[in-house]
Amino acid sequence: MEIDVKAALVKAHGGPENLVIVEDHPVPAIGEGDVLLRVRAASLNYHDVFTRSGMPGITLKLPVVPGLDISGEIAEVGPGVTNFAPGDRVLVDPLNRVEGGLMGETQDGGLQEFARVRAHQLVRLPDNVSFEQAAALPVAYGTAQRMLFTNGGIKAGDKILVLGASGGVGTGAVLLAKLAGATVIAAGSSEAKLAKLTEIGADQVIDYTKADFAKEVFTRFGKPNRRSYDGGVDVVVNFTGGDTWVPSLRALKRGGKLLTCGATAGFDPKEDLRFIWTFELKILGSNSWAREDLETLLRLISEGKLNPVIDRVFPLDEAREALRLIEERQVIGKVIVTP
Ligand SMILES: NC(=O)c1ccc[n+]([C@@H]2O[C@H](COP(=O)([O-])OP(=O)(O)OC[C@H]3O[C@@H](n4cnc5c(N)ncnc54)[C@H](OP(=O)(O)O)[C@@H]3O)[C@@H](O)[C@H]2O)c1
Repeated sequence: MEIDVKAALVKAHGGPENLVIVEDHPVPAIGEGDVLLRVRAASLNYHDVFTRSGMPGITLKLPVVPGLDISGEIAEVGPGVTNFAPGDRVLVDPLNRVEGGLMGETQDGGLQEFARVRAHQLVRLPDNVSFEQAAALPVAYGTAQRMLFTNGGIKAGDKILVLGASGGVGTGAVLLAKLAGATVIAAGSSEAKLAKLTEIGADQVIDYTKADFAKEVFTRFGKPNRRSYDGGVDVVVNFTGGDTWVPSLRALKRGGKLLTCGATAGFDPKEDLRFIWTFELKILGSNSWAREDLETLLRLISEGKLNPVIDRVFPLDEAREALRLIEERQVIGKVIVTP
């Protein structure tokens, strides 16, 4: 298709103004094993803020169209693609597990009207799952699913404290932990966020801008005891890092687990090893998701058990504003862009 379409591009790293809307973006050419996807919805993640501003130690080839999470309809299939056809509704697994790479980072992502996608990255959408719901899933809910279950081994009855609970991964962790029968304590930075977290099922909430969340845990569940298993919570979900790291260690009961998949507020926090050995804590890292996680999540939506929290849906022209809301912590759940 030799026409120009609209896209949001990062041409150089920097502030919000560095996400630029262009009208003359070419429709990508497709080759063997590719499909051309008509993008119907793309969700933004904090990752896109890092893509725009630049990450220490990571060099990206620019310009790039951000947007890791993409759903849409197949417009054309390339040679050799037999299992998908034009018109099929699909979700893209942002990870290219065969040739390597990540949508919206090493290859143009979802903030454009048409995207080139490898056919092996496609997952079929159940009819009753919307494009917006699907696009909300991979990076945030996929990572939450892997962190909680594959790596965290959480189970019914666990007391789980989720920091940054209002974000993409955070709301995913709250909903999925509740589905598993855990007791969820959600921490957030405003009354509006805490109200929404209660509405989606959090059992308890903490405003960690007003109270030391570790002390709040002591008040509610008792101070962790190093000789027994009394006090504290079983699990802390912490992708914030920075100043929240040591208080997270303090909030855990003996044998408790700290689950991490990121460090929005700082990757080299102060550490206090005494808590780790004295309370026999387990620090468990998680990175990305497996294909089965995406299939599980789509099935949960299709069965009516999960409904991703979507804050707002923006047209492509307002992608910069959508990313600003994420960067300035003004989002509850996911922000979707519909090119
Ligand atoms: N390893 C992986 O595979 C993977 C996958 C997904 C995400 N991540 C990482 O996980 C983190 C969360 O991602 P996300 O997309 O869920 O982000 P998000 O939607 O922006 O949510 C992050 C939440 O963290 C809280 N927060 C605390 N301190 C913050 C700060 N200094 N700046 C911004 N937010 C802050 C905010 O809630 P309050 O205002 O209520 O505190 C915010 O809602 C990011 O660091 C991301 O890179 C990693």
